[in-house]
Amino acid sequence: MRAAVLVPAASGQTGRIELEERAAPEPGPGEVLVDVRAVGVCGSDVHYYEHGRIGDFVVEEPMVLGHESAGVISAVGPGVTGLAVGERVSVEPGVPDRSCPQCLAGRYNLCPQMRFFATPPIDGAFAEQVVVHQAFAHPVPDSMSDDAAALLEPLSVGVWACRKGGVGPGSRVLVTGAGPIGLVAVQTALAFGATSVAVSDVNPARLEMAGALGATELVDARSSSVTDIAPPNILLECSGFPPAITEGIRALDRAGRAVLVGMGGDEIPLPLSVVQGRELEVTGTFRYANTWPTAIALVAAGRIDLDRLVTGHYGLADAEASLTVGRSDPFSVKVIVHPDR
Ligand SMILES: NC(=O)c1ccc[n+]([C@@H]2O[C@H](COP(=O)([O-])OP(=O)(O)OC[C@H]3O[C@@H](n4cnc5c(N)ncnc54)[C@H](O)[C@@H]3O)[C@@H](O)[C@H]2O)c1
Ligand SMILES: [Zn+2]
Repeated sequence: MRAAVLVPAASGQTGRIELEERAAPEPGPGEVLVDVRAVGVCGSDVHYYEHGRIGDFVVEEPMVLGHESAGVISAVGPGVTGLAVGERVSVEPGVPDRSCPQCLAGRYNLCPQMRFFATPPIDGAFAEQVVVHQAFAHPVPDSMSDDAAALLEPLSVGVWACRKGGVGPGSRVLVTGAGPIGLVAVQTALAFGATSVAVSDVNPARLEMAGALGATELVDARSSSVTDIAPPNILLECSGFPPAITEGIRALDRAGRAVLVGMGGDEIPLPLSVVQGRELEVTGTFRYANTWPTAIALVAAGRIDLDRLVTGHYGLADAEASLTVGRSDPFSVKVIVHPDR
């Protein structure tokens, strides 16, 4: 099979993507083989390509990028039940050990033994075929496109953020950052019953898309401050930019909750008197757990539109171009690599 492989450069430098012929992976016990049809390009793929590392995760050996994927089952390993060849599935890219205290408590996203696609040294899905444990290959309805099935992964980040924030009927939500994550957070908050969803960004095209997806108020952070809107009771911080994080916390109403999804500087100033005086709750999020069933149902019911986020398509041989377009095109939101093209 063909795979687009990131060959790392010297530390901190931009690597290069090489198309390689590799042995097809074989599904082991309880695993399925998936012919990949669509893979969303994530900011983390771009970051590994440009810098060769994210924090302590360093690309030391050539690695296949891509962790937002969907395709068709083409083989099943021994002991697989309930999944069959020919079924279309969305791939949940992180497989935990399923036996540690965090897994047993239901927080498998916090499993220390997690094996996650395209996180060194685990290969991702910019490849014609991938193998995944059967419990993490989620069947999708025929009505759902391959692109949308792949984008259930970023949608899961939005679902998890809304759950952590306790978004429900009547919630007043502020989403800072209208990238792919912010845009799924907006849609999920509305689907969960939020009655106002304000969105801030510095990119007018992204704000416009947020408005088209149902955001009730748009804040251009270049000229306005989120602290001037009616105070929200939940912040879904999806930019990772330290000023947006601090301002978002300052914007919250009393007894509000700040959900920090965006990954920015390792340390940021916390407005402690605001957090204390208003009894705010602040939580991080790390990926998601048990989100695919909800994500599939919301998209299948037409409550969330993932296809709308897609601004470009690439074949496997053009995978490198899919990683650079975001830097040059302000209208780019989410691009998809199709390993079968
Ligand atoms: N916690 C998790 O598990 C998790 C999972 C996936 C992604 N993330 C993080 O979520 C963040 C969003 O991901 P993405 O793919 O949408 O990234 P992105 O870079 O496409 O989106 C970030 C957006 O923030 C906007 N922005 C910049 N400055 C701003 C400001 N001052 N105020 C408001 N908006 C501002 C940018 O214009 C951009 O549209 C990233 O930091 C990513 O690392 C976290
Ligand atoms: Zn575990």
